[in-house]
Amino acid sequence: MTVTVSGTNSPEITEGDGPGEAVEVLRPHAEDAFADELSALAAADDRPRPARWRLSPWAVATYLLGGTLPDGTVITPKYVGPRRIVEVAVTTLATDRALLLLGVPGTAKTWVSEHLAAAVSGDSTLLVQGTAGTPEEAIRYGWDYARLLAQGPSRDALVPSPVMRAMADGMTARVEELTRIPADVQDTLITVLSEKTLPIPELGEEVQAVRGFNLIATANDRDRGVNELSSALRRRFNTVVLPLPATPEDEVDIVARRVAQIGRSLDLPEAPEGVDEIRRVVTVFRELREGVTGDGRTKLKSPSGTLSTAEAISVVTNGLALAAHFGDGVLRADDMAAGILGAVVRDPAADRVIWQEYLEAVVRERDGWKDFYRACREVSA
Ligand SMILES: Nc1ncnc2c1ncn2[C@@H]1O[C@H](COP(=O)(O)OP(=O)(O)OP(=O)(O)O)[C@@H](O)[C@H]1O
Ligand SMILES: [Mg+2]
Repeated sequence: MTVTVSGTNSPEITEGDGPGEAVEVLRPHAEDAFADELSALAAADDRPRPARWRLSPWAVATYLLGGTLPDGTVITPKYVGPRRIVEVAVTTLATDRALLLLGVPGTAKTWVSEHLAAAVSGDSTLLVQGTAGTPEEAIRYGWDYARLLAQGPSRDALVPSPVMRAMADGMTARVEELTRIPADVQDTLITVLSEKTLPIPELGEEVQAVRGFNLIATANDRDRGVNELSSALRRRFNTVVLPLPATPEDEVDIVARRVAQIGRSLDLPEAPEGVDEIRRVVTVFRELREGVTGDGRTKLKSPSGTLSTAEAISVVTNGLALAAHFGDGVLRADDMAAGILGAVVRDPAADRVIWQEYLEAVVRERDGWKDFYRACREVSA
């Protein structure tokens, strides 16, 4: 790809490097990253599709869970977890109830929400990010003030929110971190979800949701009580709780898959031996999270951080980058130690004591973990 700056000072982007290659974005949306899988599924899918769905519920579930199509196309699993959870989530989107994905940090709520929107509507970008400062306009609509002043209120001067656009086009809207949004702003969603309409009093009009519209919200378990969902709003949602990975093998599998994907997008080398290091991070995180060693023999204290699967993914990715840029490309214990220490020791006083105890009582004694013990001692010193 080449970028040339023309006389008018506007960057002109031309395609190069082979057919169809456009600008390389750092993180493509799910519908772009997995466009091939989505179109293979659409071609193979002969089951009934709800209004304006790109795929049938069966094909959406297959897209999330993975599988092999009759023509041999392999659909990679996006979500590793109980099949039933995905089936309930997908089915909910085909009803008149919205979907609330709930779970502790790093359980793939955002990830599942993005992939569901990509598979159902072919567009995962109709997104409202919930924060303590999210205003009502982010959920309803705002105004282009220059036009508003020049022309008065009109449809042209109105700036629709992602939710309004999803309603008008029969698409899937997403609201991230719903419980961080102030309660009165959250309540804006009640009319949207129960009446399926968004009134625009300034124009004496409304936008009615077209069939195919639905909404996926995510919320963090740990935020409970921050801005508790009102019961009126909660009743509009089907809640699906995403669990932590059930077994160490599942978690290693999730981390290995994501790390390979991220590594490819960062041009990091594949690390064939890396899986041992991945197993080690996952073991450490699970043991500290659960407060007991894998064999159930030693009780441990849990540090203050969440030590989620998502954090394991970033620790391994950082380790790989270290190995690639400053090592020999093979992921080793000393590429991982600093990252693990950083994830575990969030509170410099209390967490450090917990980590030291774990290091001496568990890591030191474990067969085949000498290299890791030494590497951890070095960075902890
Ligand atoms: N069960 C799982 N299957 C597949 N990927 C998973 C799973 N659990 C975690 N991940 C991975 O973890 C990463 C982080 O997940 P995500 O950001 O969606 O978590 P989250 O639940 O939204 O967390 P937060 O509460 O912090 O917003 C994603 O890259 C995802 O691939
Ligand atoms: Mg999230």
